[in-house]
Amino acid sequence: MSFRLQPAPPSRPNRCQLFGPGSRTALFEKMAASKADVINLDLEDSVAPGDKDSARANVIAATHEIDWANKYLSVRINGLDTPFWYRDVVDLLEQGGERLDQIMIPKVGCAADIYAVDALVSAIEAAKGRKKRISFEVIIESAAGIAHVEEIAAASPRLQAMSLGAADFAASMGMQTTGIGGTQENYYMLRGGQQYWSDPWHWAQTAIVAACRTHGVLPVDGPFGDFSDDEGFRAQARRSATLGMVGKWAIHPKQVALANEVFTPSAEAVAEAREILEAMEAAKARGEGATTYKGRLVDIASIKQAEVIVRQAEMINAG
Ligand code: COA
Ligand code: MG
Repeated sequence: MSFRLQPAPPSRPNRCQLFGPGSRTALFEKMAASKADVINLDLEDSVAPGDKDSARANVIAATHEIDWANKYLSVRINGLDTPFWYRDVVDLLEQGGERLDQIMIPKVGCAADIYAVDALVSAIEAAKGRKKRISFEVIIESAAGIAHVEEIAAASPRLQAMSLGAADFAASMGMQTTGIGGTQENYYMLRGGQQYWSDPWHWAQTAIVAACRTHGVLPVDGPFGDFSDDEGFRAQARRSATLGMVGKWAIHPKQVALANEVFTPSAEAVAEAREILEAMEAAKARGEGATTYKGRLVDIASIKQAEVIVRQAEMINAG
């Protein structure tokens, strides 16, 4: 229990974040024309070390030259353990256009990582007289990141979103996996000789959702590597949505529609949520705190659950 109200997360759709390497300029116009809510131009792991400088220049040019329409524009900088990240921040903030909305910081391990980037960004914004305050998103993809997830979620008022990066996370944890997200062959329960697969990402996802919801940050599911497996993507995304995540990355354009499908509340779900709210209004008028809807209990907590779905749908329709 707490007397403090849970802060609302940023009110913008974040159903799909489409990634593209900063070194592949031919993809930029295609990304801008996609139906993703968020665009992530990458300077980190999809760019080879020898291409870091040119990719940075490409991305800076793209903040000026490409029409990103109403998309939220984010650039993933290099990790704080590399020699590249400070130059990413300095050049993006000094030379990048006002169209830039957000910086994504990968492999964060503690709140001080965000403090360091915040200090640099704040100084450059002031020095250059930038009008828009750049927001941050982070990736939890290490043992340290998940161990410190709550202090990371609380680290800066700039922080708007937090993703789980399954591949680096698995490597850092020493997990015996190779797939990026989804079902892992050796993670099963056995009953009556039958294998039942379980979800090895569940704990990390739930820890991220709890930290995010405590501090008003959007929890997001990261990449699903096998982009030929639509049903695998859907299953992973549905689990994430059920746990409270608001969206998922697309590492190939064909995953955009899948993410939008899963993270947009269906018309049926919205209609049912509205009916539950109406049933509870009627119960309230009768002086009751609980009632029956389609043969099941609904009470005051059900109002909050239904409101999550209705609010999500209204925000997406407004966007
Ligand atoms: N955004 C927009 N369009 C993309 C795209 C992307 N990320 N990736 C590919 N496309 C386009 C291609 O240009 C091609 O367009 P065309 O039909 O006009 O020729 C079409 O989608 C089909 O692409 P395909 O041939 O299947 O893929 P590819 O071999 O060109 O690229 C990847 C595959 C995985 C290398 C590429 O999608 C990619 O780089 N993804 C992002 C990787 C990334 O940023 N990783 C970091 C986060 S984990
Ligand atoms: Mg990573």
